Amino acid sequence: MSRRKQLYEGKAKILYEGPEPGTLIQYFKDDATAFNAQKKATLDGKGVLNNRISEFVMLRLAEIGIPTHFIKRVNMREQLIKRVEIIPLEVICRNIAAGTMAKRLGIEEGEKLPRSIVEFCLKRDDLGDPVIAEEHIHAFGWATPEELDEIIAMTLRINDYLQGMFAGVGIRLVDFKIEFGRLDVDGGHQVILADEISPDSCRLWDMETNKKLDKDRFRRDLGDVTEAYTEVATRLGILKSNPPNLSIVTGDK
Ligand code: C5P
Repeated sequence: MSRRKQLYEGKAKILYEGPEPGTLIQYFKDDATAFNAQKKATLDGKGVLNNRISEFVMLRLAEIGIPTHFIKRVNMREQLIKRVEIIPLEVICRNIAAGTMAKRLGIEEGEKLPRSIVEFCLKRDDLGDPVIAEEHIHAFGWATPEELDEIIAMTLRINDYLQGMFAGVGIRLVDFKIEFGRLDVDGGHQVILADEISPDSCRLWDMETNKKLDKDRFRRDLGDVTEAYTEVATRLGILKSNPPNLSIVTGDK
């Protein structure tokens, strides 16, 4: 690993130069941060779980025609991905009021929204990723109108599919955050899904008990964070059963 060139280190992932031009290796760390990195911890096994869950979700989405950066998983913590220019937006899709939107608009957490809502935040840690309007995106040229139309259409399609996928295993998809990138193709660009989709970037509640199976367990000090992520992976059929020792079950390479 040390011989590879590190291109970027984020809060939960590291990007290394890939084996071929146009590729990167995405490494999932065990580090967790919340509230713009004011709260930090290391959660043993989280990176392994997110690597597997994100692989699973990206492959399912590819099957329904969503273009993604995922090429293949290379080991427990790493996946080979297509190199893209990240569009500087955090695209959030919400089905149930929770988190910052519940707080911002004074809606009780858990209230079903009248329809799915897509929100945009500017990817700027130094500003705390502020919520922005489509107008800002157009005016400042963060994405073209065509790109934004595609992003919204893909986000709603992803939401529809993932709501059904999670409902099938007794989990409610409350909300999620995704990112998109521009892939160079024949002198032009294609907008594709990038980053990750995992319990770090989604709110996932058990349908019967409303138990949180996502990063809110860390944000709100609810405990059993990796146990909850393991539960998601197990229900999706990624892990065979609740493993006594995560490293044995997931240590396939
Ligand atoms: O905190 P907030 O309610 O805005 O988060 C909405 C959704 O986006 C949640 O699923 C959260 O995990 C995700 N999110 C994220 N990364 C951020 C902000 C939010 O994955 N920087």
